[in-house]
Amino acid sequence: MTSKTPAVPAVALGTWAWGDSGEAGDGYFGSQLTASGLREVVERAQANGFTLWDTALVYGMGHSETVLAQALKGYARSEYQLSTKFTPQAAADGDDPVAEMLEQSLDRLGTEYVDLYWIHNPADVARWTPLLIPLLQSGKIKHVGVSNHNLKQIALADQILGEAGFRVEAVQNHYSLLYRSSERAGILDYCREHDVRFFSYMVLEQGALTGRYGPAHPLPAGSNRAAAYNGILPKLQALTDRMRAIGGNRGASAADVATAWAIAKGTTPIIGVTRTTYIDGLIRARGIELADEEIAELEALGDAADVDTRGWWEHEMYQAPSPVAEKALR
Ligand SMILES: NC(=O)c1ccc[n+]([C@@H]2O[C@H](COP(=O)([O-])OP(=O)(O)OC[C@H]3O[C@@H](n4cnc5c(N)ncnc54)[C@H](OP(=O)(O)O)[C@@H]3O)[C@@H](O)[C@H]2O)c1
Repeated sequence: MTSKTPAVPAVALGTWAWGDSGEAGDGYFGSQLTASGLREVVERAQANGFTLWDTALVYGMGHSETVLAQALKGYARSEYQLSTKFTPQAAADGDDPVAEMLEQSLDRLGTEYVDLYWIHNPADVARWTPLLIPLLQSGKIKHVGVSNHNLKQIALADQILGEAGFRVEAVQNHYSLLYRSSERAGILDYCREHDVRFFSYMVLEQGALTGRYGPAHPLPAGSNRAAAYNGILPKLQALTDRMRAIGGNRGASAADVATAWAIAKGTTPIIGVTRTTYIDGLIRARGIELADEEIAELEALGDAADVDTRGWWEHEMYQAPSPVAEKALR
């Protein structure tokens, strides 16, 4: 009964910022998005083979899902894939909060199934994972993934699903040139060895790693991402300058190079798309082949920036051995 790892495009599309659009205001990203602008993003993406859309109830508390469904109107359900999440912290008190949250998402998304359903974080793996099984059996969920889980938590979720003939088919964690915690913790290797697709989120560090923003042109004032990144923008300059130069040789931008790096590392980036021109960037990015030396150089610059961009919702994936433990190992 084990289903096959889903076939997906080289890049998936993120819609967290879409939760900010319209009446919900411009809270997290400070983006000024409109329904017509997002429809154009969808059209450009769909026409170019980018058909996997990632969202979550908690992105604007339903707003991202609603806006995404509107923007996808007119496309046949088979022409796109939907990825949304169960967020434990938003669970209701009922008998089956996972089924309940999924039902609400299906309703907002105007569909009878989601292609990929995620447990958003490892708040209680043993409690929430089993509740996915009936949803897989009924076909309301085609594939399951876990997000923000460490290696042990991924293995536990996989074991729980395995007892019913299913498995964890995808992992979705923060992974960028500034934040390679999942790589250091062995999660990328685990995924490769177990045929689990690794989706990397915040590859562009919410815009801070695109070269578009800098000390003279910071992220939108008052937004959460401004609070998280504006203070470190000066430290990112050497890396974004180098990405721009590497991209320049190929008619591509710094952001395209960051995305190409995540693809080169064997991951499927989920890029938050807010403009049609960003889809053109994805078309370039999927065609860029970075040389090993370029990858090494970019990673060295990322490390040298010496910033910690772990989100407030994330736990550290990698525990560096303490000097005491290291000594004991010798
Ligand atoms: N599972 C989880 O816990 C979790 C957590 C975070 C994110 N995610 C998922 O991953 C997705 C991606 O993360 P994210 O949206 O937070 O951040 P991101 O992809 O790192 O950055 C997105 C931002 O970068 C800018 N951008 C995108 N493409 C660009 C390009 N080609 N050139 C220049 N700027 C570009 C846009 O900002 P401007 O509009 O300002 O230009 C956009 O809002 C989310 O939308 C969500 O689906 C999941």
